[in-house]
Amino acid sequence: MRKKNAIRRVYELEVLPGVERFALDELRDMHGVRVPEGAVVDDGAIQFTFDGPARALRRLRSAVAAYVVERFDVPRPKALLGHEHLTRLMAFVGEAAQNDEFQSFRIGAAGRDSDVFARLTGEIERATGLRHDPEEGELLLRFVRAGDGWEVLARTSARPLSARTWRRCNMSGGLNATLANVMSRAAGLREADRVFNPMCGSGTLLIERAALGKAEMLVGADISDAALACARENVEASGARDVELGRMDVVNDPLPARAFDLVLADLPWGDAIGTHAANEELYPAFLKSMAHVTSTRGRMVVLTHEVKLFERLLEQERRWQVKSVQKVSHGGHWPRLYVLSK
Ligand SMILES: C[S@@+](CC[C@H](N)C(=O)[O-])C[C@H]1O[C@@H](n2cnc3c(N)ncnc32)[C@H](O)[C@@H]1O
Repeated sequence: MRKKNAIRRVYELEVLPGVERFALDELRDMHGVRVPEGAVVDDGAIQFTFDGPARALRRLRSAVAAYVVERFDVPRPKALLGHEHLTRLMAFVGEAAQNDEFQSFRIGAAGRDSDVFARLTGEIERATGLRHDPEEGELLLRFVRAGDGWEVLARTSARPLSARTWRRCNMSGGLNATLANVMSRAAGLREADRVFNPMCGSGTLLIERAALGKAEMLVGADISDAALACARENVEASGARDVELGRMDVVNDPLPARAFDLVLADLPWGDAIGTHAANEELYPAFLKSMAHVTSTRGRMVVLTHEVKLFERLLEQERRWQVKSVQKVSHGGHWPRLYVLSK
């Protein structure tokens, strides 16, 4: 039930472009959230209202960051220096500063080095006591043009939500944790699933799947000892229990038949990890092994940037049916997220 006298505020969620519908589903499941028509205001930006405390939004696992939003009907930022707007802006920033007990702030805006922003910065320092730190400031304040006016967005956490506290070990080619969350949900969550994460790297997919609820089995394998050590460190920090990790070449070593119901895989894309030439052999061998290791109604979720190669193989082999394909943004690339079933 909605709390009496609760303040319903406007928030904006920053998500990786392409995962908006998954973030909307997660938002809709959250008590106190209202998602209006036209909530997706831009690629990767979703606006909604919420009457709970801003810190509750930290539970969202498909979001890169959450911001509280204040709209000003002004033609340009300079007008924010007028008495009425400035008073409201200072009250807004002062309130936002309490969301994570921020001590410092920084500005994110086109023209943040201009005289106007220098004056706004001085006003914020005076009115709120926050220290201006242009590079490391904890409270990020973004100034964004929106239609005929401007919006000020205050991030609700010092670190992005996608920077998980479990990540003690980082690996080149590591998956953004919000995308790992989305991949697990795209497959459908089933407690009876025996889940296999071949090429598990630093363990992102296993940890994010474990955070979503029980699974019959959660098994990760990688050919690299360094990757497995990294995954172990992260799994331990996450507190996820019952994750099994093992060293294995998942395309050449013998695998048990029909041992898993669901495969979650973030394959080498041939740039940061692996090469395109090696993928010509790795990908067909991978599809064959995964067909062998999964049950007769097996499902698989794959993220890859080798789109032409992967689609050609799916077409040729016909072992897997494509249930959905989603283009998503990740680290400056636009890989595809495939949901497949046998
Ligand atoms: C794109 S990375 C996975 C990143 C991972 N999702 C993460 O978040 O850290 C690909 C991983 O595949 C592993 N790999 C490549 N070929 C393999 C094979 N044949 N068998 C097992 N692992 C393999 C690499 O060692 C690397 O850790």
